[in-house]
Amino acid sequence: MTHFHLSQNVIYMKNIRLVFIYSVFMVSNVLNAQDLRTDWWTDARFGMFIHWGLYSGAEGMWKGEKHRHFNNYAEWIKYRNRISTEAYGKLAERFLWDDIDPEEWVILAKKAGMHYITITAKHHDGFALWDTQVGEYSFKQYDPESKDVIAELAAACKKHGIKLGFYYSHWVDWEHPFGWDHNRELSDDLSAEEFDQYWQEKVMPQLRELLTNYGEIAMLWFDMWIPHQETIVEEHQVRQVISLVRELQPDCLINSRLGLPVSDPDIDFETLGDNQLGAIYQTNPWQTPGTIAHSWGYNALENEWKSTNQLLQALINNVSLNGNFMLNIGPRADGSVPFESISRLKDMGQWLATNGEAIYQAGGIALRPTQHDWGKITYKSEGERKKLYLQVFNWPLDKILRVTGITATPKSAYLLADKLKTNLSFDQKGPFLHIDLPRIQPDPFVSVVVLEFGEDLNLDREVAAESSFGGVSLHARNLLSHKAEKVKADRVTPEHLLLKEAEVLEWKFYVDAPGEKQMSLSYANPGIKDIDFQLEIKGLETITKSLPPTGKVVVEPNQQFYAEEFVDTPLGKVNIPEPGYYTVLFQLKTRSRESLKLNWIWVE
Ligand code: GLC
Repeated sequence: MTHFHLSQNVIYMKNIRLVFIYSVFMVSNVLNAQDLRTDWWTDARFGMFIHWGLYSGAEGMWKGEKHRHFNNYAEWIKYRNRISTEAYGKLAERFLWDDIDPEEWVILAKKAGMHYITITAKHHDGFALWDTQVGEYSFKQYDPESKDVIAELAAACKKHGIKLGFYYSHWVDWEHPFGWDHNRELSDDLSAEEFDQYWQEKVMPQLRELLTNYGEIAMLWFDMWIPHQETIVEEHQVRQVISLVRELQPDCLINSRLGLPVSDPDIDFETLGDNQLGAIYQTNPWQTPGTIAHSWGYNALENEWKSTNQLLQALINNVSLNGNFMLNIGPRADGSVPFESISRLKDMGQWLATNGEAIYQAGGIALRPTQHDWGKITYKSEGERKKLYLQVFNWPLDKILRVTGITATPKSAYLLADKLKTNLSFDQKGPFLHIDLPRIQPDPFVSVVVLEFGEDLNLDREVAAESSFGGVSLHARNLLSHKAEKVKADRVTPEHLLLKEAEVLEWKFYVDAPGEKQMSLSYANPGIKDIDFQLEIKGLETITKSLPPTGKVVVEPNQQFYAEEFVDTPLGKVNIPEPGYYTVLFQLKTRSRESLKLNWIWVE
């Protein structure tokens, strides 16, 4: 269901440390040599997920009742609505075999610019889409007129040059008497021997069929969202699967939801939680499985469709952090794909036809993931030539794109959509690069500016970035010292630093022209006493000030819904004598029981 991987935090910590060790980082080193097996997949960046099975025939409803859970994953209806295996099997009768044509899915994927497809060969319901000789729960056994969709899909993928992978639910199986079913948490009645019986008589032989009868299989996508040690699945069982895969199809990729971490040499890539986008720069191969709607399987009551822009930005975000995006469709029991999905995939495909260069075989650079407020950056190295793709989500009103942190000088700047590569003028001062944009953005979704370099980019990973419209915000995400507690944003409170001690906070910022800079500070003081602080711009000026209690703000009128007030407090003007790097040091001077909540320091 909604799974989050703890390993994310661990890697985050590691990366934070890296930031401070290497202030200037050579981009040529950032893309690690990944396992050769995974190379094609990393290069592809974008793939299709298909959730299709008996549940597609239920359409998220059973006997007039909708799916019994607010998380309306339609493929969970057998479990959620407590449907017997036999009654659920009869859903096979709803399938319109004359209309079902898997080649249409392949063509849709291809037009969307996707390079691979992963289909739910067997989902948690335990029902096989292919003509299995193992057990009695497959389309063939329920409807002799049915087709082997997996065989047809494999043939169509081959024809159209799309790689094929299988989702296989190894842990959860609601059909087999000894498969895992979460309701067993109540009874604790499944022995290890029984589970192994399921494993040996269903999982292993079915995987053997899938790896033997359908040509080249590019990946097996397993679905266990916690480490196997926290489940009934034992290490020797997952290792048995790995041996089978390596024996039959050595190049077939295996994802981390097998139940092992990506640090295991036999796990080819990490799968984050459902719809969990990347938040940190990672060098190991990883992906987000994502939905266009909310449910994975077809749900007639679906009303949460993401926009094309959202989906494109998700893909770009992941690529900018070296990740992949596998986007799901849930066809109906006649094989048709909902119009909302088709239209978004078509738009994405059109965007990729122009801008694919900035996605395929591209990765990210190791600047802060939230560095720029206008969008994201992807990167590609072609021998001596390095290219940055500035993915502009929000075309600046003043038509100046502000890029911070690259100190090498671009050889050229142009729009990716411009076949003539007309030069865009730019101005570079230290780590600040200002690119002059045309008045109209070339793409209604995301417009891409290419920067070409003949040398390494020389990233400055410490300096705080300029905002759109100019000005620099110093906050939790670009702080250099990192002992201070960071409090995440919630629905009404901004992300902030919780300051108790006299710890010195440090930021680095850049000023590109001499003159006066206005400074201000946003904070909340929940106590009843003033809190004093000292802010030093190293070598220039020291400001000391008291911050009075701030009280509350009414969030919603007449609902007694209040939040902490964060107040924007002027700190006065600072005279900057010459362009260059400056350091801000901030320290509390009052010892109090209440902590100061520091939102940002603004320099403009
Ligand atoms: C979860 C769900 C499942 C869905 C999958 C996709 O594991 O249980 O229904 O197939 O996520 O990522």
